[in-house]
Amino acid sequence: MPTTARTVLFHEIGGPEVLRVEETTVPDPGPGQVQLRVEALGLNRAEALFRAGGYYYQPSLPASRLGYEAAGVVEAVGEGVSELAVGDRVFTGPGIEMSAQGVYAERIVLPETSVLRRPDSVDAVAGAAAWLTYTTAYGALLETAGLRPGDHVLVTGASSGVGTAAIQVARRIGAIPFATTRTEAKRARLLELGAAEVIVTGESAPEAVAKEVVRLTGGQGVEVIFDAIGGPGFHQLAQALAAGGSMVAYGWLDPRPAEIPRNWPFTLHAYANMRHFTTPADHRRSAAFLGAGLADGGFRPAVGEVFEGLDRVQDAHRLMESNTHTGKIVVRL
Ligand SMILES: NC(=O)c1ccc[n+]([C@@H]2O[C@H](COP(=O)([O-])OP(=O)(O)OC[C@H]3O[C@@H](n4cnc5c(N)ncnc54)[C@H](OP(=O)(O)O)[C@@H]3O)[C@@H](O)[C@H]2O)c1
Repeated sequence: MPTTARTVLFHEIGGPEVLRVEETTVPDPGPGQVQLRVEALGLNRAEALFRAGGYYYQPSLPASRLGYEAAGVVEAVGEGVSELAVGDRVFTGPGIEMSAQGVYAERIVLPETSVLRRPDSVDAVAGAAAWLTYTTAYGALLETAGLRPGDHVLVTGASSGVGTAAIQVARRIGAIPFATTRTEAKRARLLELGAAEVIVTGESAPEAVAKEVVRLTGGQGVEVIFDAIGGPGFHQLAQALAAGGSMVAYGWLDPRPAEIPRNWPFTLHAYANMRHFTTPADHRRSAAFLGAGLADGGFRPAVGEVFEGLDRVQDAHRLMESNTHTGKIVVRL
């Protein structure tokens, strides 16, 4: 029997104020689909960009849904579902199109392939903060850049959900993460999360950041830069690379144009997380890495703030745009 759910919708492009909570009908899960009762939502910068019309695809308006990440419990399964059963504790994963399938709702229906089982030790709040952050860091650092034990990696915008996970992913394999932030108040938390050094960029020019990284590595530079920012500082930041290193651009928090760095030879990757979910083998490796880290406690998702109730979604988006958080912003239902 179709049921209903309070769901976050937006009918026009804009700031956090365009987000509305409305009652929608939840269809029965079809073949290969599962229905979840959502317990917590994890926010991503992508969702603020999507709501504001600045993401890589545009929302279908009016009545676009929003959101990639949720943790909850399976309530119903459609025909042919084999990997999941009613009562399973889960979180959402790859292959979600936000306008039609966005997860900011009390109940959602998704393909079984977009849902992963959640280890028993991971509660809903941590579960909502885990999938996109760690799998992005895993795919970029290990599968793409080939980060190895003993390597140094520079993580820019390191207080972000993905940045905090990247610090832990680097530590897990014995690499040495350096973190940047614009905010001095975040230094202690980034050190606590595992950063070996924190560089507070503040007003300093990108070339000064690169010089400091080179100094901290005894003149060598880092083997990998994991960059969320881009913008005019991009080519100077690359001067922090060791010869032959890799730079992974995975976000453009600074939307201004960037120049291609010229301190060759090095490898520049433009990274998109979905690339690592195109085959079952990709999916299996990434899910295994995340599952192992969560199950043995090596990965502890950094949660910046928890808002109580779907009605706080506008406040949660305002906090994200204030850039004062460290780690994931979560809304608990
Ligand atoms: N390619 C992929 O597959 C993929 C996957 C996931 C996320 N992403 C991208 O990764 C980035 C981070 O996402 P998230 O959800 O983890 O972010 P988030 O939690 O919202 O955090 C972003 C942090 O970056 C810093 N920042 C924001 N704007 C900045 C700017 N203009 N210049 C420098 N620093 C800035 C801020 O910290 P400070 O002010 O303290 O520096 C802020 O707290 C986004 O660009 C997102 O689109 C890409």
